[in-house]
Amino acid sequence: MLTVFRFSILVAVLSFISILLDPRIHEPAGDLNTTVVILNWSRPFNVNKIVSEICKNLFDDVVHSVIIWNNNPKPMSFENNFANASCPKSRVQIINSPDNLYFQARYMACAQATTPFCFIQDDDYLILPEIVRAFVRRIGDNSASTSSIHLQPPHEMLSSELRTVVINETLHTTFAWLGYGTIVKRSRVVEFISLLDHLNLLDEQHKMADNYFTILSNEIPERWFDAGIELGGGQAFTVGTEGEERNNRHIIEAAKILESIISAGDVASTSLPYVKVQPNSPLLPTISRAPCHGRLCVFETSIKLIPDEVYDISVSSISDMLVLEKERLKALGEQNATEYLNFAPSNAVDGIRDTVFRSAENGKHGEYVILDLTECHFYDRLQWVLEVGAHMGAILDRSVYESSEDGVNWHAWGKRADCSNALDDGLRTSRVMSCVISAEKIRVRYFRMRLLEDVEYKWEFHEVYLSPIQE
Ligand SMILES: *[C@@H]1O[C@H](CO)[C@@H](O)[C@H](O)[C@H]1NC(C)=O
Ligand SMILES: *[C@@H]1O[C@H](CO)[C@@H](O)[C@H](O)[C@H]1NC(C)=O
Ligand SMILES: *[C@@H]1O[C@H](CO)[C@@H](O)[C@H](O)[C@H]1NC(C)=O
Ligand SMILES: *[C@@H]1O[C@H](CO)[C@@H](O)[C@H](O)[C@H]1NC(C)=O
Ligand SMILES: *[C@@H]1O[C@H](CO)[C@@H](O)[C@H](O)[C@H]1NC(C)=O
Repeated sequence: MLTVFRFSILVAVLSFISILLDPRIHEPAGDLNTTVVILNWSRPFNVNKIVSEICKNLFDDVVHSVIIWNNNPKPMSFENNFANASCPKSRVQIINSPDNLYFQARYMACAQATTPFCFIQDDDYLILPEIVRAFVRRIGDNSASTSSIHLQPPHEMLSSELRTVVINETLHTTFAWLGYGTIVKRSRVVEFISLLDHLNLLDEQHKMADNYFTILSNEIPERWFDAGIELGGGQAFTVGTEGEERNNRHIIEAAKILESIISAGDVASTSLPYVKVQPNSPLLPTISRAPCHGRLCVFETSIKLIPDEVYDISVSSISDMLVLEKERLKALGEQNATEYLNFAPSNAVDGIRDTVFRSAENGKHGEYVILDLTECHFYDRLQWVLEVGAHMGAILDRSVYESSEDGVNWHAWGKRADCSNALDDGLRTSRVMSCVISAEKIRVRYFRMRLLEDVEYKWEFHEVYLSPIQE
């Protein structure tokens, strides 16, 4: 039997229990504005590793504290599980859940935090500290109107893109998981909990809260390509066809609920929380993004990854989201889908020269790539380095190189890329060109390379980075 219960009462009860079990008070820590929320289900070793990395790298400049929600009946404690993690005990909070609350636990944990943002992840991926930093910068940035930003490996990104449904200007959504690493505004999580409460959902629906989070928001959240560092071990929660079917069932239920909320009329007049009334998301995926590895920046491109024809296929109800995905995938074709997965934009900034970001179609007038440093820097001298495929000469010659402090006003450099052949990447010697564009005495946040005409070649980036020149 499924039971109906009030979500917020449960949150309150659990907070109380956790205070009893874990009577530590958070240290105020300057303006650190992010709380990391980790769910332990079956991989305590991983949780230890993830927490150690966060303490070591992010406690000084971004992360206020870590909340570990242990869904497993075997209790965790700081002394038994994190004594060797070199973390201050006061900044690691462990909540031993009285019950396995599944996904809803992370929303409860975030709602109890004191910071404006929560960074949410499962226990099976290690997320690089520079990615968390880039996330915090981006979500605090007014130009990012999104209330969450999700990391997605290419196969999840493809699925999420193909599931994007736009019925009209008041109804549009897609599905994205949170477990690969997601930054959320805490205020939105509180609203989400309150919405679930209003809707009187079943116990099982609360537990599967991830399947409802992005869909019910009625916005298309920002998503970044990143394959993550898999830690493995333990037992995944979504296993086999049974797990798939359960996920799909809840995704469709979420879509039906959103549709009925929207068609019942004005969300604003019923003062329903969380569901966005004013659409502020781009209706078609226009910009793709990926965080840099090993440095603080975000790669952005307007290069189309999926042909427009694929989006010509539509449905009349968002509850047909999964049917839509299947049909669009068929239209995309196996070959194109494989290329999407193998040549993702994240390959341009992963620090590995051997992986490639390649466009699906030939370069078109107006297409661009941007390297966003997430804040302004002053450089005496610097080189913008583009390691590209050997045939990219035509694209490089027909492009303009620009920089900007604010992403609005651009300054053209009036220079061409200076290329040398034959970089040794171990495997593809002579098929990679290293091209540099130099600048001096410059204050900059964004670098942009913009193509000025159509060309008969595909874009192909192996690595893109900045190299400050030391005097
Ligand atoms: C985390 O979950 C796993 C199993 O699901 C459990 O074995 C473990 O005891 C829990 N936490 C720790 C560190 O004990
Ligand atoms: C720290 O302790 C945990 C469990 O208590 C163990 O799994 C882990 O391997 C230890 N890590 C190191 C670096 O010793
Ligand atoms: C978050 O904290 C960082 C580091 O202290 C700060 O630079 C940033 O402005 C803060 N962002 C917001 C939106 O509060
Ligand atoms: C959008 O579609 C929904 C569902 O069909 C409908 O209820 C709503 O009134 C439509 N909104 C507009 C502005 O057409
Ligand atoms: C891949 O996409 C292109 C459009 O860009 C299309 O012409 C082609 O048929 C697709 N490939 C397959 C195998 O469907």
